[in-house]
Amino acid sequence: MDSPTTKVRSWNEWDPLEHVIVGRADGTMLQAPEPAVQPDWPEYGFPAGVFGPLPEEIQEVASERLEAFADLLIGRGIRVDRPALMEFDQPSSTPDWRQETMFGCASPRDVLLTVGEEILEATMSFRSRWYEYLCYRPLLERYYREDSAFRWEAAPKPRLTGGSYKPDFFREWHSLTPDEQWRRTEESDWIVTEKEPLFDAADVVRFGRDLFVQRSMVTNRAGVDWLRRHFPRHRVHEVSYRELLPWHIDATLVPLRPGFVLVNPERPAIQEAHDQLFRRNGWEMVKAPRPARTEAMPFCTCSLWLSMNCVSLDPKTVCVEASETPLMDLLDSHGFEVLPVPMFEVSPFGGGLHCVTADVFRHGELEDYFAVQIPGF
Ligand code: NVA
Repeated sequence: MDSPTTKVRSWNEWDPLEHVIVGRADGTMLQAPEPAVQPDWPEYGFPAGVFGPLPEEIQEVASERLEAFADLLIGRGIRVDRPALMEFDQPSSTPDWRQETMFGCASPRDVLLTVGEEILEATMSFRSRWYEYLCYRPLLERYYREDSAFRWEAAPKPRLTGGSYKPDFFREWHSLTPDEQWRRTEESDWIVTEKEPLFDAADVVRFGRDLFVQRSMVTNRAGVDWLRRHFPRHRVHEVSYRELLPWHIDATLVPLRPGFVLVNPERPAIQEAHDQLFRRNGWEMVKAPRPARTEAMPFCTCSLWLSMNCVSLDPKTVCVEASETPLMDLLDSHGFEVLPVPMFEVSPFGGGLHCVTADVFRHGELEDYFAVQIPGF
């Protein structure tokens, strides 16, 4: 039954969580090749060019994990909504292109950016994810009916013609020496061109008035600029890190309460002002321990640093992947209550605990956690 009490609002990653969307793994595809992504898993029966649903056994386990996580949240009094499934094996097209398959809807964090009373549908930059917002439309329509203050926004849908991608990016990338690859990293020289604004919501991390937005394989400078113009009350910081082929910031910079941010020890920020901003405002930058896992799941395109992809229920309570004992011990020693949640098996579907959630309501106000700013950053 519809709840008359829907309220959309979330300003940061740590205020007490009261309403959240949790993704679904059912029907997720190893998507058909497209300019931005070319799956190639010969060892698991999917060599380049072969596509189809992820194997049923791994879908079942992933769905169970998501279901159990949703139940855990509900058990703690948090309202949980789930996206509507689509037939992800269907082709989709626009006047500019036809794509043989969609992807899935396990990672609402990639698509939906909640900033205050607004939920913004990101542009996305994979053709296979162009229509993924439709999975959330029944929920967004409902929030719109029930919360008269809800600001429902969608970024301009991108054309995603060939002009949005550097031709032959991957072939060229693999021909580069490590030094050349790192040089391109310093320049954030990734596959997406600057033809049109592109961003995934998961390249944004929210700290009240300050939004950090990562340039990546899926987020270009025009996308960062679009966000800056769209959120004029915010300070939007364009950031990049020493990570090869980056996409999504939530295994790199993970704030858990005011003044406490987990950072990835292998991915220092490229801009000096990044660390200065935290330090000058008294933030503790705590290095995440090395992941406990040593081997990724089949079909997983994320790194083992998904260990850091945790989600806060409030400034004292954080859900961490259940096998990540080193991180749980570290957070425990910093005074957090840690809830171990098995989510590793969901990684082939697009991510970890933070990825599989999108905030609808966190109890709190817009605050400034960075009174001292760094000019030009
Ligand atoms: N692409 C990053 C972030 C995933 C949430 C990684 O694999 O570490």
